[in-house]
Amino acid sequence: MNIAFITSELAPWIKVGGLADVSASLGEALTTLGHEVQILVPYTGTTGLPETVLLPRERSGFLVEPAWTWQETPVTDHLRILWISGPGFSDRVGTPYSDASGRPWPDLVERYAQFCKVLIMTYARGGADAPTRPDLLHGHDWPMGLIPFWSQALDIGIPTLFTIHNLGYPGLLDRASFDRLGLPAQLWNEDQGILIGQSASSLKAGLRFADQLTTVSPSYAREIGTPEQGGELADLVRKRQGDLSGILNGIDPDTWDPRSDRLLPAHYSADSTEGKRQCRRSLLDVLRLEDTTHPVAGFIGRFVNEKGVDLLAAAIPELVNRGWRLVLLGRGAPAMEQGLKESCSPYRGKVVLLTEQSEPMAHLIMAGADLFLMPSRYEPCGLTQMYSQHYGTPPVVHAVGGLVDTVRDADRDTGGTGFLFKTPTVQALLDCCQRAEQAFQDPGRWSSICKRAMKLDFSWSSPVREYEQAYGRATDRRRKRTSCSTHNRAPKSSS
Ligand code: GLC
Repeated sequence: MNIAFITSELAPWIKVGGLADVSASLGEALTTLGHEVQILVPYTGTTGLPETVLLPRERSGFLVEPAWTWQETPVTDHLRILWISGPGFSDRVGTPYSDASGRPWPDLVERYAQFCKVLIMTYARGGADAPTRPDLLHGHDWPMGLIPFWSQALDIGIPTLFTIHNLGYPGLLDRASFDRLGLPAQLWNEDQGILIGQSASSLKAGLRFADQLTTVSPSYAREIGTPEQGGELADLVRKRQGDLSGILNGIDPDTWDPRSDRLLPAHYSADSTEGKRQCRRSLLDVLRLEDTTHPVAGFIGRFVNEKGVDLLAAAIPELVNRGWRLVLLGRGAPAMEQGLKESCSPYRGKVVLLTEQSEPMAHLIMAGADLFLMPSRYEPCGLTQMYSQHYGTPPVVHAVGGLVDTVRDADRDTGGTGFLFKTPTVQALLDCCQRAEQAFQDPGRWSSICKRAMKLDFSWSSPVREYEQAYGRATDRRRKRTSCSTHNRAPKSSS
């Protein structure tokens, strides 16, 4: 099958969160089953094109509007990246979503919606300048939410699969943007269309029109059908439950392997853990943290409320009091970063806050910390708790979403490799950290927890087969719909 992966992030070039890692590693994993994968990414981030574009280019061309160009770069025989330049993308410095100072682009949702339309119009028109026509379109998260709608509206006959990585980002469009995009009036409606309150939602469009839906863990697939987690989208999620699969993310075995990780000062495995001690030493030295007989704990992630950063900030004084060392790595909105700075600054030598995105530091924390903290209020899947277990660093996590599906509690389960708490409160987090410390202070027990964690299988080998099955279901559904009457079709667009 020739699969077009359409995504706003792709590691290592364009990375804000876990979506970047998944786009890269799932794309590659699919090729191991014999599929051809083209990853289509609107190029954003800096004013230049990334280095990969300088590699030999196979093909290039235009999308239906000449302002949009694409360049294809082969990565392997079966995997290629199509970098797409277009207005509002390649001419901006910052992340796909915000400018260099962290402010969201004012036209953020509209320009991705425009990209979706232009891409599908290109497939509808075809021609020598168009990218190779795929057998299936796989769009990721709200930026690509309108791919399924336009595919149906322009009747291009290519099945679609839409993956929800995070329902908390609906991708909202106001009426003026909606009209500029030429979306049909029937969609400006809650029950049959894509409205949430007074705005159209690109995520809701994906949820309504894709042939098949996936999200990134089985627990999250259930949670988003509840009003607490699914909010205004819960009804539609339940309506489409039969087409929705929760498929756990995998991790990239080449990038994340403590036996060979080039970003680490020493290597180790479950059978030989001396290297992990060296990584801990190096982490403390690099960050000028005072040594301790208590745990060194790490947090890596976006500084946003959903990650429970406020809980963490409130827990810092007590954890420091207990003798812990903490290192927090990530980026967030300016106000959030400032608040965290204030929480951390009284504890020089004990707490370090790094407001940056640094892959080398992320790897060193994974390997050098004793524990990994992940108090997310909700978590569709989460990758860092998988990386941390793989690196023998047991996680302390809130029992929600993908965290429940990937971490078992070492106090409750003989196969446990981490610690879970049920309610997202500071006290529950502190109590859970206390349980983790008890285990940590018992070297024999601790070593078996860490070794068990390192032996867990978080590879793509089983999830990738579930994706393959979901592609099959999407293809069948599209075939059936095409052979049925036109009743099921999405409303025709007004332009
Ligand atoms: C989003 C989710 C995260 C998930 C990632 C990749 O960032 O918040 O839980 O792991 O996407 O699917």
